Amino acid sequence: MVVLLLKRHRYLTTLVSSIILLLLYFQNSLLILSERSPCACHICVSDRKKSDWFRERYNPNVPLLLNSTNSVLHADVSRWWKGLQTVPNTSSYTKVVDQLFSLFPDKHHYSDAGPDRCRTCAVVGNSGNLLGSNYGPRIDFHDFVIRINKGPTKGYEKDVGLKTTHRIMYPESAVDLDNSTHLVLFPFKILDIEWLISAFSSKTIIQTYSKVPSTIKANKDKVMVLHPAFIRYVFDNWAEGHGRYPSTGFLTLIFALHICDEVNVFGFGATSGGIWHHYFEKTLTSYQGVHAGKFENEIISQLQKINKILVHMGRT
Ligand SMILES: *[C@@H]1O[C@H](CO)[C@@H](O)[C@H](O)[C@H]1NC(C)=O
Ligand SMILES: *[C@@H]1O[C@H](CO)[C@@H](O)[C@H](O)[C@H]1NC(C)=O
Ligand SMILES: *[C@@H]1O[C@H](CO)[C@@H](O)[C@H](O)[C@H]1NC(C)=O
Repeated sequence: MVVLLLKRHRYLTTLVSSIILLLLYFQNSLLILSERSPCACHICVSDRKKSDWFRERYNPNVPLLLNSTNSVLHADVSRWWKGLQTVPNTSSYTKVVDQLFSLFPDKHHYSDAGPDRCRTCAVVGNSGNLLGSNYGPRIDFHDFVIRINKGPTKGYEKDVGLKTTHRIMYPESAVDLDNSTHLVLFPFKILDIEWLISAFSSKTIIQTYSKVPSTIKANKDKVMVLHPAFIRYVFDNWAEGHGRYPSTGFLTLIFALHICDEVNVFGFGATSGGIWHHYFEKTLTSYQGVHAGKFENEIISQLQKINKILVHMGRT
């Protein structure tokens, strides 16, 4: 009798623990099922779950582009951003921003992220490592193709592609665009925003610290201006205060992390021979200057290591 009871007891314990284990197991799978992926791609840039390093840096709520409701700058952002300008006499930021939205669309872009979107982006830098790469078709295959400054496509289609959905620029690097390309102004000073307004209206500004075009061809309805708070965010969170302010290439890459679900990087870094030059110029470029090139490169390598971006090294 005692033996039988003991046996039964053991049987019950096993049964109960098996049920508990099963429940735990299914609870886990149910949790995984209920936590939907933030996008429809295989891997999502904005997924902050897998890396503490990424989660500490990536802020999904930072203002991205200037609009009329988010244009007031926090005192510390304002002080830092205005401190970047080397042009002494500047107009009032508030006045300039008011003009901005009387001329250009005042929209909230890229708020469409979600579990059904898989937006792929190519960020195309201007490195000489693009020459002979045959990346053209692969670059054009992306939803967004983001190019930087003067980097041309004409004559280089085989290596850099034809398509440009966004071109990053500032007055000193401005070029004409076709009607379908977004002009994304990266403002490093108030005068840059004034130049943008002037280029589409009075055409009177022809000089900043260097000569700049009085006007450019571009679709007024596709103009966007990067938020100064975003520049500060990249400086603080990503460049960790290295350099005077982040380079345009680095800013563009982090910008892409905020508007895309998948980011592929082309034309960054030196050639395989260790040479820094633009694919469209013979002259060598410096990669340090006011920017922390070396530190930025380490961050880019780390982003690649944790599968947030894929860097294509060019012809090897
Ligand atoms: C700069 O501002 C000061 C004070 O507002 C003014 O006296 C001066 O003429 C300005 N200089 C230029 C080059 O606009
Ligand atoms: C401006 O951008 C912010 C995000 O930075 C957004 O919440 C707001 O709705 C936008 N306003 C307009 C008028 O689009
Ligand atoms: C450019 O696109 C806009 C719409 O965004 C259109 O109104 C305009 O006519 C187009 N211009 C040219 C030259 O195709």
